[in-house]
Amino acid sequence: MIDPAPINEAIRRASPALDAALSDVGRRSIFPPDIPFQAAQARGKRYNATIGQITDGGGQAEVLPALSQTLALPSSEDHNRAMLYSPVEGMPELRQLWREWQRRLGPDKSSTLPTVTAGLTHGLSLVADLFGGPGRAVAIPSPFWGNYRQTFGLRTGARVVSAPAYRGAGYNCEAIAEALAGEPAGEPAVAILNFPSNPGGYSATVDERRRLRTSLLTVADQRPLVVVCDDAYAGLVYEPEVPAESMFWELNGAHENLIPVKVDGGTKEFCFFGGRVGFVTFPFEPESEVAEALESKVKCLVRAAMGSPVATTQMMLVQALRDNDIADQVETVRELLEKRYRVLKAALGQVDRTLLRPLPFNSGCFALIELARELGVDADNVRRQLLDEQDTGVIAIGERFLRLAFCSVRASDLDEIVARLGRGIGELARRGTAQRHRATSRKRE
Ligand SMILES: Cc1ncc(COP(=O)(O)O)c(C=O)c1O
Repeated sequence: MIDPAPINEAIRRASPALDAALSDVGRRSIFPPDIPFQAAQARGKRYNATIGQITDGGGQAEVLPALSQTLALPSSEDHNRAMLYSPVEGMPELRQLWREWQRRLGPDKSSTLPTVTAGLTHGLSLVADLFGGPGRAVAIPSPFWGNYRQTFGLRTGARVVSAPAYRGAGYNCEAIAEALAGEPAGEPAVAILNFPSNPGGYSATVDERRRLRTSLLTVADQRPLVVVCDDAYAGLVYEPEVPAESMFWELNGAHENLIPVKVDGGTKEFCFFGGRVGFVTFPFEPESEVAEALESKVKCLVRAAMGSPVATTQMMLVQALRDNDIADQVETVRELLEKRYRVLKAALGQVDRTLLRPLPFNSGCFALIELARELGVDADNVRRQLLDEQDTGVIAIGERFLRLAFCSVRASDLDEIVARLGRGIGELARRGTAQRHRATSRKRE
């Protein structure tokens, strides 16, 4: 085992808060100087007998035609890179191009070269390994994407603490501060910001961001705080008061105790769901000591869990990012979703609020609907009744929420879906009332 003390020391020198926030696993991780390390050092040598990948003997992939003909890449070099092992940290060109893509909207703040992961879930699980761990408080405004419980809670033993994401008709900018209020002062914590959100389809507005930032700074006055910016749905915004850029940039350098970490990727931003290419980015200069120390830790964890990230889909993403038209293509998808968003907004604006209450939504892929408490109907019962009797699928969240993914429905179908939702809920509410009447009359008899 090599000693991680020198890289931990580099982290402590750059940021005592970051050092304090490392989990036991995070503290112990360091990229070992074994096969990938030694093979990377031998890249370009006349004879390279380091790595266990089958080549033509001169560094070119030994390809099976049946496989290679499935890839249309412009050069044999690209083809080669797609077929051979990727560096553990990801392909250099992809990391560079993705960094430029991330920074096209953000202010000129420090950010590392993003480390490549197998989709965002893997990126989140790496961050959980680094900063989670038994008992660590992870504050998430609720309702939230349920998989955070698995990535942080189940896998590392971290403790998810929560507070309502909405208050009245708007976003609750204090949710994270409220969730962490009972934690002992000085104890490091993690918070997750997810804008646009899943399941809410909500992003903080300019004004809400200002308040949220202030509130997070107050938390950081009391403890080291790692803020994970889960930017899965980055850029999918539809209202002028909602900024398109990640909060990562606004939090970057805002407080010595606050460390934003950006998790993003091609999954939703480039509609590349099956590609499984994600990234983890830290708020430091690319070649700084601390950036290298963090990269060593992430690489150690990537190597431990999956060897190295998928090369073929990284190469596809490189191709897309080289294309001058990529920003326009991404914008075309945003416009398509904006149309659906507007139709859904109008339809939900007219629903019977004694049955369902749409929560505020302004971005992303989803709308969240709260069932009126007085109806006494359970979200999963509604979901099943919609499947059985309305030929319609939605997601039930907890007892009172339904999530409607407008990203996967034609605009022309959204009115009908909302009508079915109303019918389904109404029907269940009527049955519930009838049952309650029968039970009361039986009691009286
Ligand atoms: C908020 C959020 N984060 C992360 C992910 C995971 O993305 P990926 O499919 O790249 O693992 C999702 C996927 O639905 C998501 O909604």
